[in-house]
Amino acid sequence: MKRTILPLLCLLAIFFIPSNAAAQTDYTYKNKSLPIETRVQDLLGRMTLEEKAGQLNQLSGGVLTGPQAANDPGQKDKLVQLRAGKVGSLLNVLGAQQTCAVQKIAVEESRLGIPLLFAYDVIHGYKTIFPIPLAEACTWEPAMAEKAASIAAKEASSAGLHWTFAPMMDLTRDPRWGRVMEGSGEDPLINSVFAAARVRGFQGNFDNQHLLACVKHFGGAYGASEAGKEYNTVDVSRYAFWNTYAPPYKAAVDAGAATLMNGFNIFDGIPSSSNKFLVTDVLKNRWGFKGFLVSDWASFREIITHGQAEDRAEAAMKAILAGSEMDMESRVIIENLPQLVKDGKVPLSMVDAAVSKILYWKFKLGLFDDPYSYCDEKKEAATLMAPAHLDAARDAARKSMVLLKNDNKTLPFSKSAKNVLVAGLFADSQDDALDFWCAQGQAKDVVTYRKGIANLLPKASISYAQGYEANGKTTAKLLADVNKKAGSADVIVAVIGITGKLAGEARSLADLSPAPGQMEMLRTLKATGKPFVVVVHASRPMVLTEVEKLAPAILNAWIGGTRMGDGAADILFGDYNPSAKTVISFPVAVGQIPVYYNAYNTGRPHRDGDEGPDDFWVSRYRDIPGSPLYPFGFGLSYTSFEYGEIAVKSIGTQTEPKYEASISVKNTGNREGEEIVQFYLRDPVASYVRPVKELKAFDKVSLKSGESKTVKFTVDKDMLSYFDENGNKVLEPGKFEFFVGGNSRDVKKAEVRW
Ligand code: NOJ
Repeated sequence: MKRTILPLLCLLAIFFIPSNAAAQTDYTYKNKSLPIETRVQDLLGRMTLEEKAGQLNQLSGGVLTGPQAANDPGQKDKLVQLRAGKVGSLLNVLGAQQTCAVQKIAVEESRLGIPLLFAYDVIHGYKTIFPIPLAEACTWEPAMAEKAASIAAKEASSAGLHWTFAPMMDLTRDPRWGRVMEGSGEDPLINSVFAAARVRGFQGNFDNQHLLACVKHFGGAYGASEAGKEYNTVDVSRYAFWNTYAPPYKAAVDAGAATLMNGFNIFDGIPSSSNKFLVTDVLKNRWGFKGFLVSDWASFREIITHGQAEDRAEAAMKAILAGSEMDMESRVIIENLPQLVKDGKVPLSMVDAAVSKILYWKFKLGLFDDPYSYCDEKKEAATLMAPAHLDAARDAARKSMVLLKNDNKTLPFSKSAKNVLVAGLFADSQDDALDFWCAQGQAKDVVTYRKGIANLLPKASISYAQGYEANGKTTAKLLADVNKKAGSADVIVAVIGITGKLAGEARSLADLSPAPGQMEMLRTLKATGKPFVVVVHASRPMVLTEVEKLAPAILNAWIGGTRMGDGAADILFGDYNPSAKTVISFPVAVGQIPVYYNAYNTGRPHRDGDEGPDDFWVSRYRDIPGSPLYPFGFGLSYTSFEYGEIAVKSIGTQTEPKYEASISVKNTGNREGEEIVQFYLRDPVASYVRPVKELKAFDKVSLKSGESKTVKFTVDKDMLSYFDENGNKVLEPGKFEFFVGGNSRDVKKAEVRW
């Protein structure tokens, strides 16, 4: 009897167990056909508290597999944590091969097999490097930045990455700050439109050709670090926050950014990472942000250093209670969160909400269904530096270089020039070409200015003179060489500036003038009487006051990326008519900083152009002019444009103002060109004082020689209003001034009264 019943029972058991398991697998996070939300909740329900903390833990990876890593205790420990489900994301793990190998460990060797998110700073290109973001913004062409971001995403995603820490949308008015290069200058509108464009470009449709964007550094106005000194205190009013610093972040959120990063600095006395006002009240509640937040590198831990938490547990608690989520490299969350929840100090619901959002994006990217869809080595090899990417980088480079001066039509040089001297160390130094944020871009791939010119003029003889040393000094020998070679040159391109190595994070500078050796080289060239142009290779506006005095032409090339030399050559020898306009003012002296166009009037304003000694009891320095050397919006073309008068038509009602402002713009020169027509507004009398000008719209128009176009701007109530200190929109009747012009200084004016 026993013999017969036992197999029967076993059979029954077998029948029951698999049917249970089958029911469960049908209804699990692994089931593709279920909605993401259902899968997230299912997975969440299976996770321990430690595993939840793991999803909030991001570590910097580096190389994690292979013989070298196997002998490195730190790297080995990361794999132990990975297998234990204690890591949700890795940054700085790169390449299809490496990301695949590491993903395999997470998926196959951790209990729940939750895939990792691989992140990296893909700021202006992955391997094909585009101009720095500040330069791209000088195109006033968001579609161009969108395309550059989408190419960067294509390359990076082919190398196994899912997520970039970009765009940076910290508005700044201080070129001493090293990160000025990462942003879009001094204007809220320019920053906003470029924020949205880059988010779209990076993210696309969230397929494996794109990356999640991370808008940074929310929202403490990091770009307002006092005196442009890196990581310094920020102390801006809420009024300034709402009107000046917040709009670009908001635009990025509205464009659907999947993630945001906390800033390093304090805002209103509270570190950005533990700042409930910023993270919960503004970002989540007011703006309805549905993505997730990541800290900046160790910014949770730095809550202690700032002096707002006593120890790591308190720092973790404050960050999470404020609404911050993933912890980049502080490791305070993984160490402390489970206990904080058990002690009732952090509600489980907050942890669940944060983890759910991270899981959501992992599902959304399809990582649970195919964890290896981003890491295909063949695709990677075919994608990086594809010819179309390099062409786009060249086009972006020439579109972003700003022609600051061109006396007597020095430029363009003739393409039939036989002898060209290219002078200056930076003219041919791949080593100084790229910035700190150049991802996997390599110096050896950069087309230098010298090479770009040689490419364009294959028949010309191109000579080179170093001019100055890497330390910024020169020698009699170097100057003699410049002098000699200038003697036989038809035209001279002199490159000065600041090495790319000083562009980026932790690279604030107190002196923005060209190095003494660079100036001596320019004076030597000037003395030869030969036509020359100064090309400025720098990631920020330099103080060009002395250069302006002696150079007949100045091209501000910024840091133009892999194809910078080709882009510059196209401009210098006339294949491309420059159209860029600077999105940040160029100071006359470092002591003039911050100098920006959208300032308040003050009670004693200095007036543009009124620089004489009689202009006394006004807001200015006594030893330098009050106006910047080159104002916001300024940039020259090889043709010229003439503006008519502004015609204004009211198309609104008594309760809702609306206007159409139109102006004719004529190309009065002899070649086709593009003009960036800028519309500014002023609310001269309001409950809160408003800036003397605010950019509200712009249009880039292409005009043939002699052609005119009427450019129209619609001015709606949104443009006429501003925020009070509580972030409420204020629209007040009264007078408004409209300005239109080709830069923020030289404008036509009209007035309306609503
Ligand atoms: C610190 C920087 O502030 C941030 O912008 C960057 O994304 C992280 N490091 C990661 O590299």
